[in-house]
This record gives sequence, C-alpha cells and structure tokens, in this order.
Amino acid sequence: MTTSPSRRLVLTRSAALVGAASSSLLLPELAQAQSGKIRVGLILPYSGAFAPLGVAIENGVRMAINEQGGKLGGREIEWFKVDDESDPSKGIENANKLVQRDKVDVLIGTVHSGVQMGIQKVARDSGVLSLIPNAGVHAATRSLCAPNVFRTSFSNSQPTLALGQAMVARGHKKAVWITWKYAAGDEAFEGFKESYTKAGGTIVKELGLPFPNVEFQALLTEIAALKPDAVACFFAGPSAAKFMKDFAAAGLKGKIALYGSGFLTEGVLQAAGPAADGVITTLHYSDSLDTPRNKTFRLEFAKAFKMQPDVYAVQGYDTGLLLVQGANAVKGDLSKKPELYKAMEGAVIDSPRGKWTMSKSHNPVQDIYLRVAENGENKVIGVASKALADSGAGCRMG
Ligand code: PHB
Repeated sequence: MTTSPSRRLVLTRSAALVGAASSSLLLPELAQAQSGKIRVGLILPYSGAFAPLGVAIENGVRMAINEQGGKLGGREIEWFKVDDESDPSKGIENANKLVQRDKVDVLIGTVHSGVQMGIQKVARDSGVLSLIPNAGVHAATRSLCAPNVFRTSFSNSQPTLALGQAMVARGHKKAVWITWKYAAGDEAFEGFKESYTKAGGTIVKELGLPFPNVEFQALLTEIAALKPDAVACFFAGPSAAKFMKDFAAAGLKGKIALYGSGFLTEGVLQAAGPAADGVITTLHYSDSLDTPRNKTFRLEFAKAFKMQPDVYAVQGYDTGLLLVQGANAVKGDLSKKPELYKAMEGAVIDSPRGKWTMSKSHNPVQDIYLRVAENGENKVIGVASKALADSGAGCRMG
C-alpha cells in the first residue's frame, strides 16, 4: 500500500510533535508541503531611485504567470515581497528575509547591481533558484556564476558593446563618458570603451557621480568646456529624465550629440519631453518593435496594469516565461533541480524583444537594437548587434 501525501503529512506532524528537539526543524517544511503552493519571493525596489522599475518588473512577472491561470506547473503560488530600496548595504539581509524567514522556492530580483551582489551570495550559499530580472552585474554570470542563478535581462556591458560603432559611424569620434559610479555604470563603460576605441573613437574624459545623486550641473559645465563631439552615458529611472532635461537646459542639446545605454530613455520619455528627442541609444528592446508578439504584449500589459510597458516590464515578463517553462518541465516540483535547470538552460524565450536563448553562463544571447527617441517613442533604426552574448569570463558551473 502506498501512503498518500496527506497521510504522510499527518505522520510527519505527529513525529514532529513528539520529538521536541526536532519539531523546530520539521515544522517550517511541513507548513510548506501542506499548503502545496510554490513560494515565490520578489526582492525589488519599491522605493528610492529605481522604484518604478521594480513595479514594472513585478507586473511583467505577474502577467506571464497570469497567462498560465496564475499557476506554475499546475501549482498555486504564494507571493512574498521585500522592498530592497536599491540599498546594497541591506542586500544580504533583505534576500535572507525571503530565503531564511519566508522559505521561498524561488527568488526573483533585483534591479541594482550592488544589491544583486548580496542576493548572489545568498543564492550561492542556499542553492535557492534565483532569477535576475534586471541587474547586469558581470560577476553574477561570470566569476560568481552558479547553476541555480539565471539572468533574463542583460549583462552591464552588453548594450554599450553595441554603442561605440554606431557613434563613430555618425562621425562622432571624440566623446565624454558620464555615469553613476557603481558597478552598473563602470561595467557599462567597459563595453563602451571597448566598442568605441575599436571603432576609432577617442574618449576624452570619464565623468561620474555617486548613485543616486542627480546634481549634474557642475559636470555639464565641464562637458561644455571640453567641447566633445558626443556624450555617452549610463543613467536609468526618473533620474535619467532629469539628466536629459538638465543637458538641454545647460544649452548642450543640438551642439553635442547625446548617446546612451538604452536605459536612458526607458519609461521616462513622457517625463523628459522634447529634451529626449534625437537621443540615440542601444538596447535589447524597443517599444516600437513592429512584431505581432510585441504589439500583443504591449496591448495586454497596458490593459492589465494601466501603464505602458518598458524594457523592465519585458524583462519581468521574460522572467515569468522562463519560470513557467522550468516549472512545467518538472510538473511544479522545483526540487527536481537537475531537470529544472536543464529545461531553463535549453529554453527559447519567445519575448516581446525577439526570441532569445540562454548562454552557458546563464545570460541572454540577444539582439541589441539601435534606437532614436522621437515624440515619446523609441524608434528602432537598426540592429546594432545580432545575437550578442556576454563573454561569461571566469564562469565555472558546479
Ligand atoms: C544595475 O544596477 O545593474 C542597473 C540598474 C538600472 C538599469 C540597468 C542596470 O536600468
């Protein structure tokens, strides 16, 4: 005779109750098994400089799972949420709220590369499935890569590796680079430097300010004095709109061409207004991609969440799609790790950005589009790099 799952639970419970010493070990597991739900933890910024990005990602994740009737591999979901505030000093503590306290089966997060380093440590130490819906920090899929960590967004140098050539092709051979000084900005610079100098461009100055400062004035004055052909940058979120407006207000627009890693113009075109017009960027998505997949996604997302999707919404959606593919392959039993990881490694994600696959180090292999901001839209003007993979340098799985 086989023991039914519920019968087994009852037996486990009585065993736990009689054995006082072991009860604290068995009870959390019991609670989990009893509910039968997959515990999904979201660690995202819901306050601070990246708050709107966190909301867009969560909506994207929910949309993909709602398309499955709100289930993963046939199992109901219980959601847990932590606001990471884009504060790296609390990264480990916040990730542990979900992993140790809430005992999540999967950890989805985050946006900020510094916070991601804390999550990566918790993911590696605990072995919990960890899906990165934005943060591009190189180490996550290079030196600190892990079998249980999958990124559905980009590596920080991916968008800018496609930028330099496009700038030089437009005759802009002398550039100033400006960014927030932290991993995302510094690693975006690595991609920019490689692509721009290889194409024959010269970087005359690297400028920076600490995250999340938005006091751009003194740096813009310095740029005006340097008189480069172009400025290239990494900024994101509402602060990116402020940068473009300050750039225009300082009298630089129309005199010095403004380029960026495409996050510069994501989700902020209304806020930036005419200051964004003509800004050229490279990114793995564009709202104007003329494909049925993107059009349907945009309509459905706007209908469900009463907001326009941006790259963050797409990355959240793709995170959901990947999780669905993995969970379906193991019929909801996420403890079948080798099968789960194999399914996720082999997944082809039919994304609004275009189909993409996972590299060996668990980072998307994807097209990078060249876009120009015009009248509140990121218009695609070309493919700057086809099927671009991150190097995955130093990644040893296992
Ligand atoms: C990051 O910190 O990795 C980051 C944040 C916002 C972006 C892109 C990258 O838009």
